[in-house]
Amino acid sequence: MFERELARICGLYSGLTVIFSQGPKDGGGDTMTVLGLVLEILGSCKVEDSFRRALDRVDGLAVSPAMQIRQSIAKLVASDLALLQRNFRRHSFGELATSQTLQSIASTLKPTSLREEMLAHADDELRHSKLFSALAKSLQQSTGYTDCEDFSWILDDDRRFVENYAGDIVEFICNVFAAEVRSHSFVTSYITALRADDSAQAKRICKVLARILDDEGRHIGYTGRYINQWMASNLDLAESLERSFKAFDRNSWVDIAGTAQFFYERA
Ligand SMILES: [Fe+2]
Ligand SMILES: [Fe+2]
Repeated sequence: MFERELARICGLYSGLTVIFSQGPKDGGGDTMTVLGLVLEILGSCKVEDSFRRALDRVDGLAVSPAMQIRQSIAKLVASDLALLQRNFRRHSFGELATSQTLQSIASTLKPTSLREEMLAHADDELRHSKLFSALAKSLQQSTGYTDCEDFSWILDDDRRFVENYAGDIVEFICNVFAAEVRSHSFVTSYITALRADDSAQAKRICKVLARILDDEGRHIGYTGRYINQWMASNLDLAESLERSFKAFDRNSWVDIAGTAQFFYERA
């Protein structure tokens, strides 16, 4: 038992060594700060100083290094079609879970514009889930790799979240906002990595990812505008944002462990 666990840890370690040896060597679009990204998306909207400070703070905490690591991983993933297939299938579960959660939480609200925007958002995430699933299936035709990894825990986690939801919609929107920044950054990092590949397949994947990226930008936009309005009416959301970004940063490490596990199991 102990030997098996030790072998697993050693395998994960060697997988991580592969990941970090790729290193973010050439900057690229994914190194934008959270504040820079949000300001670009919110455009002409007047962004509260308190919101700017909160976003600056999450960058200083952990998100920025995680983005750089994600960029390194995306390069590695893009160079291994079976891994790309596995990750796209994993994202299809993540997008489905987000869609179901948004739908459930929106249904607890009275009819408001926020509820309508959340329901439209849930439709977008369901479409993303189908797009990622279709991309994974099309890659399977090239790789011949059958991915049997069990991702049902992603749906279970979100189901538990909904069961324990205590009705704090402001905290929830901070969470969704952080999740959307994370989605935007991982889709950007795939596009950046795949652009180095001149093949028709890479171009086709980039086209689909660009459509998803547009939606993720809109999701950052509407959640960011609500947070900005709430902060303008003196609600201090710095701690909620910090909690949300830390939680999604932890998720990034779970993703990194999953990628390392993939290398370990194929070794
Ligand atoms: Fe999405
Ligand atoms: Fe999204």
